[in-house]
Amino acid sequence: MTNSPYFTLAPQGGNDAAAIENLLDLAFGTDRFEKSSYLLRQGAEPVRALSLVLRRGAVLCGTIRFWPVIVGERARALLLGPLGVHPDYQGHGGGQILMQAGLSKAHGLGHELVFLVGDMAYYNRAGFARVPAGQVTMAGKFEPERLLYTELAEGALEGVNGMMKKVHAKGQKE
Ligand SMILES: CC(C)(COP(=O)(O)OP(=O)(O)OC[C@H]1O[C@@H](n2cnc3c(N)ncnc32)[C@H](O)[C@@H]1OP(=O)(O)O)[C@@H](O)C(=O)NCCC(=O)NCCS
Repeated sequence: MTNSPYFTLAPQGGNDAAAIENLLDLAFGTDRFEKSSYLLRQGAEPVRALSLVLRRGAVLCGTIRFWPVIVGERARALLLGPLGVHPDYQGHGGGQILMQAGLSKAHGLGHELVFLVGDMAYYNRAGFARVPAGQVTMAGKFEPERLLYTELAEGALEGVNGMMKKVHAKGQKE
């Protein structure tokens, strides 16, 4: 899936969950669960086909996932995150590999609009821009200037307004 000489890109496997949580604790800290983007993931399921990992040999050193969300009444979109690379393996292009592969697969599956909460200085490399102030909001601890988007179909953000809400996994309640 990638021609990086350093990493192997692969779909997330059934036994990867513990290594991913460990990696995210190291990369983001254990207080990450308070963030607005985490609230949108509780009780939801990531899009399985877009859950990717990076390995170097047998070591899991990167992870990306995408979550289905609805903005306003009915605009469907994806929320990217968390994107994380193990501190020992950062700076080798892994973050960009995961993002480009994820976005390209999402486009292939017909998704048109992707949001994330993160540092503009990093994500603008992959084509993300700030959501215009007030256009889209999130519940919880929310820093509007960190809400970014990219369009996989031209004009996909046009007319998308309101609160971002999660799409519950089947059988889950609010
Ligand atoms: C952000 C992250 C995914 C990048 O992974 P990575 O594999 O190291 O990234 P890449 O190798 O693709 O890119 C590295 C480049 O991004 C830059 N970069 C990394 N984090 C950055 C940030 N928060 N803001 C701006 N630039 C950043 C590095 O300085 C480096 O720059 P260079 O290419 O000019 O040397 C990884 O550092 C990580 O998991 N960090 C912990 C979480 C975090 O801090 N996220 C911040 C964004 S929300």
